[in-house]
Amino acid sequence: MPTVVYPGSFDPVTLGHLDIMKRAVKIFGTLVVLIANNPSKKYTFSAEEREKFIIKALEEEGMSNIVKVEVFNGLLVDYVRKFGDVVIIRGLRAVTDFEYEFQMLLANRTLCKEFELIFLPASNRYLYLSSSIVKEIARFGGDISRCVPASIIDFVMEKLRIN
Ligand code: PNS
Repeated sequence: MPTVVYPGSFDPVTLGHLDIMKRAVKIFGTLVVLIANNPSKKYTFSAEEREKFIIKALEEEGMSNIVKVEVFNGLLVDYVRKFGDVVIIRGLRAVTDFEYEFQMLLANRTLCKEFELIFLPASNRYLYLSSSIVKEIARFGGDISRCVPASIIDFVMEKLRIN
């Protein structure tokens, strides 16, 4: 059985991400969540905060002993090469996601011929949800309780709320 890896920015983790994690665990039994920390990309939350959020969310769901959380700085293909037998999971919400995801997949496959990826379609109720939407709602003091795990609501609001 290959190591199943779910990479992303998770800036911050949403209920949509968590749903993909739960479903991946249901299908594959275990999962590694890989938090990208690309130095050329500007994140709202630090890698430590994003990691803490995911760990809290997994604890809340009773999944912390099944899902491993790691931070990585390099290319995804280097992670795949380092650990060998790896399958990448990416969630797909809409056709617009597909274009970007497919381009990324093709680039990764060009860099590494062993690169394998499975798309998991988002559940209907999370099709609209993204980390950017969460941040936009939070900045203006809106209700993000249907967007992010309960355990991180206060942290997200505290950092982002501007009024
Ligand atoms: O949650 P995101 O921001 O859509 O995740 C994108 C992510 C982290 C999966 C992608 O940017 C990535 O794999 N980054 C690592 C650096 C890398 O390998 N880049 C080349 C992709 S073609």
